[in-house]
Amino acid sequence: MTQIDTTVHHTPRDFSDRCALAITKVLRFSADLFFAKRYGHRAIVLETVAAVPGMVGATLTHLSCLRRMKDDRGWIRTLLEEAENERMHLMTFIEVAQPTGFERFMIVSVQWVFYLFFFALYLISSKTAHRVVGYFEEEAVISYTLYLKEIDEGRSANLPAPAIARHYWGLAENATLRDVVLVVRADEAHHRDVNHGFAGEIAGAAAATTVAPYPWHADTIRVGA
Ligand SMILES: [Fe+2]
Ligand SMILES: [Fe+2]
Repeated sequence: MTQIDTTVHHTPRDFSDRCALAITKVLRFSADLFFAKRYGHRAIVLETVAAVPGMVGATLTHLSCLRRMKDDRGWIRTLLEEAENERMHLMTFIEVAQPTGFERFMIVSVQWVFYLFFFALYLISSKTAHRVVGYFEEEAVISYTLYLKEIDEGRSANLPAPAIARHYWGLAENATLRDVVLVVRADEAHHRDVNHGFAGEIAGAAAATTVAPYPWHADTIRVGA
């Protein structure tokens, strides 16, 4: 299993970074308050949110490239891949835990608010938007590290890995939930570094050189076929 650095933190350098961090901390606080240690439920609800920014970023970058007749430097595919990857996290965790009726209501409501918020934020400042995602992903890495601890200390059952996860990450037949959380966390670390890198590039920095390796994934078109 690839080792990832779980301690990466981008130190805020300007007002935009501080806004992005503040937004993230408020959401982290709310999630901690609501879910406490129910990591399965937390993963489902938060993955429904995590899959939004990549699609918004890809759409708006696509439109911007059309208007300016400029190359996207591979950003659109990267962001679409991120959205798909987050959706696969959701499809995996829905096999592990079932959201309550209230959580389903919350998912629908939060999607309206978050989609519109993130769309507006991306239009106003794509740098801040990517920084927000970078910080979200820092928190996701922390949450999945805590989830691993719950499993390791026996508070969450180390269930067999769902079939969809074994297929998507190419895991062994006898893979467990712990193996799944490890690859999901590696995905999040990759998104973290990519998005902090994009925010930096928009601000004029060179492309990021230290990006956490991205685990292997199957072509999702075939999943469930
Ligand atoms: Fe995720
Ligand atoms: Fe993520």
